[in-house]
Amino acid sequence: MTKNNSPQDWPEPIVRVQSLSERSIDSIPDRYIKPLSDRPSSAVLDDDTNIPIIDLAGLSGDPEARASTLSQISEACNEWGFFQIVNHGVSPQLMDMARETWRQFFHMPLEEKQQYANSPKTYEGYGSRLGIEKGAILDWSDYYFLHYLPLSLKDCNKWPSQPPSCREVCDEYGREVAKLCGRLMKVLSINLGLEEEVLERGFGGEDVGACMRVNYYPKCPRPELTLGLSSHSDPGGMTLLLSDDQVPGLQVRKAHNWITVKPLPHAFIVNIGDQIQVLSNGNYKSVEHRVVVNSNKERVSLAFFYNPKSNIPIEPVKELVKADKPALYTAMTFDEYRLFIRLRGPCGKSHVESLKSPR
Ligand code: OGA
Ligand code: NI
Repeated sequence: MTKNNSPQDWPEPIVRVQSLSERSIDSIPDRYIKPLSDRPSSAVLDDDTNIPIIDLAGLSGDPEARASTLSQISEACNEWGFFQIVNHGVSPQLMDMARETWRQFFHMPLEEKQQYANSPKTYEGYGSRLGIEKGAILDWSDYYFLHYLPLSLKDCNKWPSQPPSCREVCDEYGREVAKLCGRLMKVLSINLGLEEEVLERGFGGEDVGACMRVNYYPKCPRPELTLGLSSHSDPGGMTLLLSDDQVPGLQVRKAHNWITVKPLPHAFIVNIGDQIQVLSNGNYKSVEHRVVVNSNKERVSLAFFYNPKSNIPIEPVKELVKADKPALYTAMTFDEYRLFIRLRGPCGKSHVESLKSPR
């Protein structure tokens, strides 16, 4: 399927989860009730385990500190595919402002937000579902999706005009976080044994993509029956998540368990997406994650996606394809690839698995 025949509209009327949440009744519609095996109680490791925390200050320190930071990141990519970074260079005030501005957006009256309602064609704007399968079981969240890069897709008029600072804050946030992603891409490239530019070049060099999904998880009267976001791996290259500073909810799959991330204030949660799994020829793997909701607190998170240029074939970089390690994945453009999740919604790692080269 190509971009040109992607669907124009949703298969059924969109229901804002926030409006369900505001009814203050103690049940949820059947459409949000997950099958037993997907509910939040399954296999949660409820202890102090957390994803690795890495101080990026070492990257600009002496050679020894830098080497040690690189090796911590390498281990985190190998063992977890998920880690938190602190001293990353993005201002804490900007991070708070970005999250709180978006919280205000979601607190505005429904009519105000409706003018930005999105469609499955581009996903840009205010949305309440992923995927277009009629009758699908839905997630307990609303979101706002927007593009930063390439510049040809960036259109601030599609961003909320209210609250008044929204466009400006969003713009600055995107610039800073994209810069940080560029730094991390170099680190990952070096850690894979490549020249520092190779991974970014595999993404299309100057023409990389970047977009953001602001997730709004309203309070839920029956959190044990549903999920804020179903299990998925991120389809793009790399994700930098700014979590709610007050409310946990993100869970990461580690073997057969789910681990709840304990977010540090002003940290970014970094994770490897499917496109880096492909480019790295499986040396790094994207990791499944999901979001649980709760009955007494809403949660707001900002997921920043750093992606390859969307119309070039993405395949394992040639330096990582060897006689004893043939290319594990067949080439696909990111435009084509992201149709999987846009049509079917989140489904674990099934999308990237389907790219495996026939043996
Ligand atoms: C996402 C995501 C996690 C969160 O938007 O892809 O995984 O905590 N978000 O909101
Ligand atoms: Ni995700």
